[in-house]
Amino acid sequence: MRVTASAPAKVILFGEHFVVYGEPALVMAVERRVYVSTEPRTDCKIYIRADGIGASGYYSGEALRTFEAEMGGREAQDRLQPIKVVIEHALRLSKKKVGLNVIVKSAIPVAAGLGSSAAVAVATAAAVGRVLGLELSREEVYQIAYEAEKVIHGTPSGIDPAISTYGGTLIYRRGEGVKPLTLEVEVPLVIGNTGLSRSTGDLVARVRRLKDRYPSIVEPILSVGGKIVAEAIMALKAGDLEALGNLMDINHGLLSAVGVSSGPLERLVYAARRAGALGAKLTGAGGGGCMVALTATGDLDKVARAIEEAGGETLTATRAKEGVRIEEQR
Ligand code: MEV
Repeated sequence: MRVTASAPAKVILFGEHFVVYGEPALVMAVERRVYVSTEPRTDCKIYIRADGIGASGYYSGEALRTFEAEMGGREAQDRLQPIKVVIEHALRLSKKKVGLNVIVKSAIPVAAGLGSSAAVAVATAAAVGRVLGLELSREEVYQIAYEAEKVIHGTPSGIDPAISTYGGTLIYRRGEGVKPLTLEVEVPLVIGNTGLSRSTGDLVARVRRLKDRYPSIVEPILSVGGKIVAEAIMALKAGDLEALGNLMDINHGLLSAVGVSSGPLERLVYAARRAGALGAKLTGAGGGGCMVALTATGDLDKVARAIEEAGGETLTATRAKEGVRIEEQR
């Protein structure tokens, strides 16, 4: 049997980083997907190929400890580790001793704040789970992917695997899970990619260091972040895009304050604002990666052009209603 599953990218509209400390966040799935195809092998090896991260290779032997790189040299093993963790988890649940080929194809830029690693983990859990005959619920797919995220960066909030699993627009709070939000209004967004990749784990650790050193200053910033999300939900419900834009600007200021913005991100954010965006902020972990601008409906092209002239690559952010899904089974 061969199974292909897919999972979408995401854009965090409000609340990244602060969500790690229990504040709410608002996140939307976008129509850029990772596709993971898998089939059993006749031997007991696990072959993983992920062109997007330039890595492929074979795991074999006792507890799949032996690794032989095919592409990506010495670093391949580290890069493939989160995918391997998902596969091992599913194999343990199935109690089967089979080999698998797992091929990852992604249309999501890597390490750019759009949740590509979580989407890979979610689609892998769904595809491998199905091929092994596990009847995984969405919640179980989410839990397996969340475990893999913990391997990549120590204290993930769980927001990335949640949006890739469930799709749509969600209010997410650590420990409370997801609350779907039905949007009555169009939210025209342009995503701008600085093209600089960065590590989510390092950026999360940077905020933690600042918080540990200056708790009386950073903790109030986190709680203001939570209040912004509450206001943003009201603005969305009222269709008040101008208020939403203001709140994005304020949220960006708070993220700069905790050290996760950067020169390239600021350039794109200010280019978007100068071109008439209603609001603009970094999205995801920051450092490099992507920013997102909210525009009036007629201004999408103008704002996108300004972001490109400032050196960014733009992506359209069509909302993805569906989260993880099985694309093909034969
Ligand atoms: C990364 O997409 C979002 C962060 O808040 C980390 C997390 O929530 O795990 C920076």
